[in-house]
Amino acid sequence: MNAIIRALFERKSVRAFTQEAITEEEKELILESALQAPTAGNQMLYTILDIQDQKIKEALAEICDHQPFIARAPLVLVFLADCRRWMDAYEAAGAPHREPSAGDLLLACEDALVAAQNSVTAAQSLGIGSCYIGDILENREEVVRLLNLDEVVLPIALVVYGHPDEGQVKRPKPPRFSREYVVLKDRYRRLDEKEIREMFQKRNGQKDFDFDSYVRAFCERKYMSRFALEMNRSAAAYIEEFLKN
Ligand SMILES: Cc1cc2nc3c(=O)[nH]c(=O)nc-3n(C[C@H](O)[C@H](O)[C@H](O)COP(=O)(O)O)c2cc1C
Repeated sequence: MNAIIRALFERKSVRAFTQEAITEEEKELILESALQAPTAGNQMLYTILDIQDQKIKEALAEICDHQPFIARAPLVLVFLADCRRWMDAYEAAGAPHREPSAGDLLLACEDALVAAQNSVTAAQSLGIGSCYIGDILENREEVVRLLNLDEVVLPIALVVYGHPDEGQVKRPKPPRFSREYVVLKDRYRRLDEKEIREMFQKRNGQKDFDFDSYVRAFCERKYMSRFALEMNRSAAAYIEEFLKN
């Protein structure tokens, strides 16, 4: 295993941090690594907000389904899918152009997410842990106000970074589904029920694993949760506003 592959395998989400600061040099490496990610047409259809104001960190911790560790993270970055910058350039140059649409939005999300993941891997290589916060998609109206967004600029990822505390270092990484269920040859196909059951059984590993109870509890706790419903409401509002013109 080379150092990069080791960093990918060893990375796990870190939600509790030591007091150790992230140095300016480390932060610069994390940010510059993000900017080195591939980007469609070299456009860099994203903006990264480096959240330094403690009050904004605290507001994000509340808005993102009350996750206080967000406010305790020494580095908090919001990755915005940003279609504004190029619109402004087209306007400045007098280039006949159209309003951004669904494809532009998805492309900007791809750009922002690959940049985010570069930053995560760079942090890992420096011994700095990180955690994505999906709840940034919730509460659109509050997030737009807090971060001064406009309708073609969407917060697609929030990532927090810090040195892992001892508990986090010791905590095992959650196992993944086996590759055979996730990597398919040539064409998509739906897994049948037997495969689905096996897939969960293999990931859990225990003989007495109860698929039905586990999946029912997960569905209730996550998929049908209040925060998942709010995320869908809020995300639909982002998309509706984006596509308005
Ligand atoms: C898009 C995305 C959203 C996530 N949102 C949250 C979150 O809001 N809170 C949290 O504690 N972890 C969050 N995570 C971390 C996942 O729970 C974690 O990646 C998963 O359980 C696998 O564990 P690992 O990252 O340690 O390998 C998120 C991860 C991703 C990729």
